[in-house]
Amino acid sequence: MAGKTVLVTGAGRGLGRELARQYAAGGWQVIACGRGLPAGGFETGIEFLPLDVAEPASISMLAAQLAGRPLDVLVNNAGVRSRGAGLHCLEPDEFLDVLRINTLGPVLVTRALRANLRLGRDPVVANIGSRAGSMAEGLLDDDDDDYAYRCSKAALNMATVQLARDLQPDGVTVLSLHPGWVKTDMGGDDAVLPVEESTRALRTIIAAAKPECSGAFLAFDGREVRW
Ligand SMILES: NC(=O)c1ccc[n+]([C@@H]2O[C@H](COP(=O)([O-])OP(=O)(O)OC[C@H]3O[C@@H](n4cnc5c(N)ncnc54)[C@H](OP(=O)(O)O)[C@@H]3O)[C@@H](O)[C@H]2O)c1
Repeated sequence: MAGKTVLVTGAGRGLGRELARQYAAGGWQVIACGRGLPAGGFETGIEFLPLDVAEPASISMLAAQLAGRPLDVLVNNAGVRSRGAGLHCLEPDEFLDVLRINTLGPVLVTRALRANLRLGRDPVVANIGSRAGSMAEGLLDDDDDDYAYRCSKAALNMATVQLARDLQPDGVTVLSLHPGWVKTDMGGDDAVLPVEESTRALRTIIAAAKPECSGAFLAFDGREVRW
């Protein structure tokens, strides 16, 4: 993996932090992006660049800082949930804030870094989605009532498919990935997957990604999630 570069959004905590750590341990050049440097900083060799995915100006600034640098993998990981779940709790402004971060953010970041991905080797964009956004599977065994979160991740899936088509001429593979129910601030203590395990699995899928699979929605265990 010598010389390969990955950029991870939302890298200060949770899955993003562990992705940055594991890629760096694997010899990758890691650009860890977040709204602020986490307490204690990052491991040696991880480069931090500020990025608020809800702010187009912040995305433009990142792209300007990275001009001309090849990017092999972009992980659109930053994400949020609503403060409260359920129809009665739905706050219109908060709903749109969640969509701005979870759906529009990955699209704008990908567009801004398209030239960098074009310079990469077998470039991959991994949009960290969620089975909660699957219309076929999301309600089967998940009583999550967070309308904004579910809708934002369903819309992210459509963005993945559209990006896959638009970036195909550049040789960029675009995937939606469900990380499982993971022990992070978002997943909570009852979650079943250690963050290290989910991250290892996500990295395996990203490493195996092929252009003919572009636009797929895959779970951490490699299973194709139904839309
Ligand atoms: N954990 C699970 O069980 C689970 C399941 C399915 C999908 N996912 C998805 O996996 C991804 C990572 O989740 P996680 O569990 O690691 O969550 P987490 O522990 O809550 O971490 C979320 C990360 O996103 C960042 N973030 C939020 N808003 C941002 C913004 N506007 N700009 C830049 N960064 C922002 C946070 O940064 P700050 O520190 O600045 O807030 C934090 O680093 C999310 O997309 C989530 O939807 C998680």
